Amino acid sequence: MSIKNGNVRWAFDLRSWRCTLNDLELATACIQPEEKDRLAKFHFLDDFKASLVGRLLMRQFIKVCLPELDYNAIRFERDSRGKPFFRPNATDQIAAHIDFNVSHHERYAVLAGSFTKNFNENNRQLVGVDVMKMEYSGGKPLSEFFRLMHSTFTPNEWQFIKARSGEQKQTDAFMRHWCLKESYVKNIGVGITIDLQSIDFRLSTVDLSATDIVRNSVVSFEGAPQNHWVFEESLLDNDHCVAVAVKNPSTEYTTELSQNELLFEMIDFERLMKDAKPLIAVDSEYSRKVLGKQLKKTL
Ligand code: COA
Ligand code: MG
Repeated sequence: MSIKNGNVRWAFDLRSWRCTLNDLELATACIQPEEKDRLAKFHFLDDFKASLVGRLLMRQFIKVCLPELDYNAIRFERDSRGKPFFRPNATDQIAAHIDFNVSHHERYAVLAGSFTKNFNENNRQLVGVDVMKMEYSGGKPLSEFFRLMHSTFTPNEWQFIKARSGEQKQTDAFMRHWCLKESYVKNIGVGITIDLQSIDFRLSTVDLSATDIVRNSVVSFEGAPQNHWVFEESLLDNDHCVAVAVKNPSTEYTTELSQNELLFEMIDFERLMKDAKPLIAVDSEYSRKVLGKQLKKTL
């Protein structure tokens, strides 16, 4: 688990995690009480685990950035649109700009984090991330699904998607565009509340890979090219694509990073919980109830 020139890309494979009662007892004692209450409302175990791991990724990220902070003193809040952010104590002296974002879908929970030491208050590096399984399982024919989703993408984006040959390649291209768009709106923090056709991506590389980062997709917003953005795209495996939107890339980002330092690093439960200390009492009854929740489908 490392910070590469201030940038972290972590992925947690939810399918590989056995999630024992012991794991759950520890994990749910290491999150803020209001988050524990929020998680309890999930109907499905899969959703519970994904969101829980997202919270733990955030804690681990801050702990790696600021090792001198006590794990159980790390606090997050959410802004008015629900985006979590780190809230240092008034007495903490932090000479860096920290930003991060979490996403979860199907098999993975991911975090993109940025820890910038040389930053300008008006030009801070910000990140947004989205992960998607490249699968369409909606039941309707794909063409009907695309018709229903018409307003999601611009004519140029649809042209790219539909030019791919075969339903799987078109689904991959659809999900790739979706990830890019969501990484952008999550970076800004607005989520999917704005007109998605006001965001127009132009892609130069046709296929993504798990071994190289693609960083040549560009975006316009309401017709204006957005020059201070970089989009990192890759595959986590054959079925999942991920996009990270970096706004105002720092000097470290643009000059010191090799492309492949931005590939997602797989971390397991043991690494996720490294240096973790409970914030609240272990709640065995809560953890047992969680293990009794339904699975959406076999993860
Ligand atoms: N911007 C960026 N990140 C956000 C966010 C926002 N507005 N709100 C939540 N997040 C973070 C959280 O860490 C969240 O994890 P959690 O649900 O476990 O707390 C994570 O992003 C979810 O991301 P992802 O797994 O990719 O979820 P999604 O594909 O379902 O989409 C949003 C997430 C934010 C894009 C979507 O929920 C949305 O558009 N929301 C609208 C924003 C809004 O107006 N909310 C008002 C209600 S408070
Ligand atoms: Mg998403």
